[in-house]
Parts: sequence; structure tokens; C-alpha cells
Amino acid sequence: MTQTAEKTDLAQIGVVGLAVMGSNLARNFARNGNTVAVYNRSPEKTRALISEHGDEGAFIPSETVEDFVASLERPRKAIIMVQAGAATDAVINQLTEAMDEGDIIIDGGNALFTDTIRREKEVAAKGRHFVGAGISGGEEGALNGPSIMPGGPAESWETLGPILESIAAEVDGTPCVTHIGPDGAGHFVKMVHNGIEYADMQVIGEAYQLLRYGVGMEPAEIAEVFREWNAGDLDSYLIEITAEVLAQKDPETGAPLVDVIVDAAGQKGTGRWTAISGLELGVPITGIAESVFARALSSATAQRAAAQEGQLPSGTIAELNVDKAEFVEDVRRALYAAKLIAYSQGFDEIKAGSEEFGWNVDPRDLATIWRGGCIIRAKFLDRIREAYDNNADLPALILDPYFKGELENLIDPWRRVVVAATQLGLPVPVFASSLSYYDSLRAERLPAALIQGQRDFFGAHTFKRVDREGTFHIEWSGDRSLTEM
Ligand code: 6PG
Repeated sequence: MTQTAEKTDLAQIGVVGLAVMGSNLARNFARNGNTVAVYNRSPEKTRALISEHGDEGAFIPSETVEDFVASLERPRKAIIMVQAGAATDAVINQLTEAMDEGDIIIDGGNALFTDTIRREKEVAAKGRHFVGAGISGGEEGALNGPSIMPGGPAESWETLGPILESIAAEVDGTPCVTHIGPDGAGHFVKMVHNGIEYADMQVIGEAYQLLRYGVGMEPAEIAEVFREWNAGDLDSYLIEITAEVLAQKDPETGAPLVDVIVDAAGQKGTGRWTAISGLELGVPITGIAESVFARALSSATAQRAAAQEGQLPSGTIAELNVDKAEFVEDVRRALYAAKLIAYSQGFDEIKAGSEEFGWNVDPRDLATIWRGGCIIRAKFLDRIREAYDNNADLPALILDPYFKGELENLIDPWRRVVVAATQLGLPVPVFASSLSYYDSLRAERLPAALIQGQRDFFGAHTFKRVDREGTFHIEWSGDRSLTEM
């Protein structure tokens, strides 16, 4: 029997856009005791949701935006789950028109945070609240408990918070949702979450590549390795699903599924945004950026085909003379190290974004709400939370004493793996660039001094000295004397 609510009841929350993510979110709200107003531009989707899942809770379906808005309790709260970009703007305008002062419009899609900042201003000018909320966990998370990163005015969190808490994933009794900060903070943090997701997926891919083509293991055997890894420090959703994917056989041919999937990785853009924003903020998010480039390179099919036709010399490819079990353990440690770098860089970007835009984002909140529901959920987020609990102003996550201790055990295997990959001619863009990042951070002297000299030579860009204050220039084309500027 359908429990679809009578029109006289009002809904605590509404969902606009009933593709899979939107309808799963609506079902999650309904299953957790909320009356949910639902609306989709084409009414077939609304009808399908009600006929297939109407018995899961109380829904109020509407076929016009006006009816939808009228079915919401005040202050009205409506989550938009439509395509990012123009479609989102169109729905925001419709809702703003139909709503009243103090009502709350929530954008639950993967919007670019600068769009969210703009939208918040526009909506606020009309007296409504706008909340850009990152929602992670994919279709399954939307239905059974996502991790939610809402931005927007703190005031809207007061009414919205309990409803979002009712559907979020929970870890140790703590819901995986909290107010991140004003305007674009939620979407910015979700963007960086996705950037870390890209890097995490890429380092897992690099580990797989080394086991597969470095020591010749079959996908099913590697699946077992990932299962074991998932019982240790690397315990995470992405490692868990990697084992599933590697163990899967193609239903048509019986071959390992991974062998029949075209090796060109897609992307919808959030990783790219994270890299662009990192560049703009001047934060070296090398692992994230390399993982975006790795996807782009994988999809450069024509160029790759041309390069494969024996066009590019490989140089001498060494035989790998290692004990297989030891190599597998080295790869595990290299993966752990590169993953740590990606998280450390991601948290650096969040800190820089928070300072630039005045958001006051607390890294402990992220380490808490990313422990469950989201794609990068991982056991070691507990350690990250402890690290920021011990020192909220850590200069870098990897400088936390626990992680420094871990790196003691990881650094040698990590170096060995990068050397082995190089000798085997196997690409490890994130393993290798993360190691260079790590060594750059450690280096007492960087070649940046030489770059400053070059800049001064061709452009009189000046330089600082190590031995006294001031700004200096050498008269390169004259007598090469030193001038203090
Ligand atoms: C999540 C995911 C989700 C989506 C991304 C990744 O946190 O639930 O990140 O937002 O899967 O858009 O997409 P691409 O890999 O296609 O960029």
C-alpha cells in the first residue's frame, strides 16, 4: 500500500530532479521518516518513483514547480539534483520565484564552487537562502547514507542540519555531515574530495599495473592481494571495490573484465577543477594534477596508437629480479605513501581555499565526515582526524608525528618501486611525482635559486639573498655588479 501523503500534509524536504541520484536521495529521506515532496520536469520520472517506491515512506508528488513549492513546510527546503550548469540555474530561478523570504534552496550536484558563490549572492539578494552541498557516495550512498558537505549561511544549517543528519552515513554514531562554511565552502570541499578520489584511484591503478606487468600476476590473483590489503592500513572503499572489479569475469567471454574494458578513463570535470583551483591558489597538488593528466593521456587514443606502433624507443627494459612477495609488499607501501601525499596535498588546498575565501573550514570536520558514506572513505581518516586534533595548524599532514613514523617504513619501498617501474618502462606518474614532491619538501636547497638567477638575467626580475634582507639585481649586461633595489 502506498503511503503517499495527502496534499494536506506538508513535506519537510523536497527533491527536484529525479534521475537516479535524486530519486535515491528522496527515498532515503522518506525511509528515514521525512515527508518528501518530489518534482521532475518530465512527470514520467515522478510517477515511476511513486509507483516503484511509493510504499517506502511518505511522498508528495507534484507536476508543477508551484504545486511542489506549495507542498513544502516553512521554511521550505528543496534540494536540486539536476545537471550542473544551465539546468541548475534554470531550476534555481524557478524555485526563487515560487518561494518566499527565508526559504532554502539546496544545490546537491557537483557544482563549481565559484558558481555556488555567484548563486548564493543572487539568491540571497532575493531574500532566500542558498546552500551548495557536496554529496558523495554515488547512487548507493544517496540511497543508504551519503557523506554530505553543505556550505551556505550558518542559519540555514540550523533547520537543514537535522534533516541531512537523518539520511547521512554514520560512523561510531556520528553522522557524516556538518556545516562546512559559508557560500561555496561545501562545493569547494567536495571538489577537493573528488580530486583526492582521482589520485587515490590512480595510485591503485599504478599498483595494479606493476603487479600485472611487473611481476606478471593475473587479475584474479591481484584481486586477492587487494582483499588482503583491505584488511590493513589501506582499508578503504576504493581498495575494496578494486578487488571486486579485478575478480570480475566478463559475462560474455569469461575473460577478466578488466581486460575487455577500453583503457581510456572518463572524467566529468571535478578532478580537473581541483587541479585548476590548486594552480590558481598556488598549492602544489601534484598527485591530483598528475592523476587528471593520466586520465587525459589514457584517452588520447590516436596519439597513443601512433606511439605504440614502435615509434618511440623504449630504451633497455630491465628484467625485474625480485622476490614476488617482497615486491608486492613494496608496492603496497608505495601505494600507501603516494596516497598519503594526495590527502596531504588535498588538505593543503582546502586550507588555502579557506584562507582565500574566508571560510574557516576546520580540517577535523572533513576527516570526520569523510570516514563514511563517501567514495574516499578509509580507515586512515581516523588517523587524519587525530593528527588535526593534536595540532589544528599542522604545516602539512605528512608532518604529523604518526604519519612521519609511517613514512619511515614507507620511504625505502617507495623509492625501490619508483626505480623498478622506471627500469621496467612502466608509467607511475603519481608514485613518481609524489616522491619528487616529498623530496622537494625535504630538500635543503632547491634549484629555485638558479631559476631566480635566470629570471634576473633575462628580465631583471631581482632576487633575495640568503645572508641579508633586501631585493637585489646583477647588472648582467654591464659590469655584473650587485645593485640593491
Ligand atoms: C562521489 C563521486 C561522484 C562522481 C564523480 C566522479 O563523491 O560520489 O565523486 O561525485 O562519481 O563525479 O566522476 P568522474 O570520475 O566522472 O569525474
